[in-house]
Amino acid sequence: MALRTPLIIGNWKMHKTVAEAVAYVTAFLPQVAQVTDVEIGIAPVFTALSSVATAAKGSTLRVLAQDVATEGPTGAFTGEVAAEMLREVGCYGVIVGHSERRRYYGETDAIVAAKVRRTLDAQLLPVACVGETLDEREAGTALTVVERQLRAIAGPLTPDEAPRIVLAYEPVWAIGTGRAATPEVAQAMHRHLRATWEECFDAPAAAALRILYGGSVTTDNIAAFTSLPDVDGALVGGASLAPDGFAQLVQRSQVASA
Ligand code: PGA
Repeated sequence: MALRTPLIIGNWKMHKTVAEAVAYVTAFLPQVAQVTDVEIGIAPVFTALSSVATAAKGSTLRVLAQDVATEGPTGAFTGEVAAEMLREVGCYGVIVGHSERRRYYGETDAIVAAKVRRTLDAQLLPVACVGETLDEREAGTALTVVERQLRAIAGPLTPDEAPRIVLAYEPVWAIGTGRAATPEVAQAMHRHLRATWEECFDAPAAAALRILYGGSVTTDNIAAFTSLPDVDGALVGGASLAPDGFAQLVQRSQVASA
């Protein structure tokens, strides 16, 4: 087993009814049954989590939530869902701090850190997202912005917790735009993130950290990312919405990383 098992997660965002989500899993699972070198996850909307987890039972498919409450395990927080509740319905992890959450719902670095904390406390895997905007990249501040986001996530963690988290680098300008980062840009940022993780913890922790790339990943470009030395998988939005296409994407990632 490689030091860092590649991880490919489909982030469905606000798509799919319960019936559509279950039909997807039924169609998808046989197509990835032979894939053993890649860990695969999907992140449906809250209402479909339980049914998807049931449909995925007996397979290796991981089910992740797209968000989690900063509070918990219970309390007067109307509209929120606690990490423990996600675990109860069969979740394996949570996508935390996605740029759409930061941008449209005001999630700050402190909120993202609180959500990582709750996710870890519920024994779930946080997939913590970082990424700069186009303005920040054009201003030459991409590395500093993303490093600040990363340090806010790493700072409160104990050394024991460092191996229990996955990072995703998702440049905001690449999400849903059809304009993926170049492999050079992705590799440079991933290397920087790994080096920063080493400063926060130590060299073995940095060597074990899985860093996913996200932003306009497709079946055509997945191999260019997964073949990079510091890219350990992908967070896939639009290209994860059809089971056949996502299965093909997973297979191509495997070829590249084999
Ligand atoms: P995209 O979204 O693949 O549609 O660009 C990625 C993401 O937001 O996680």
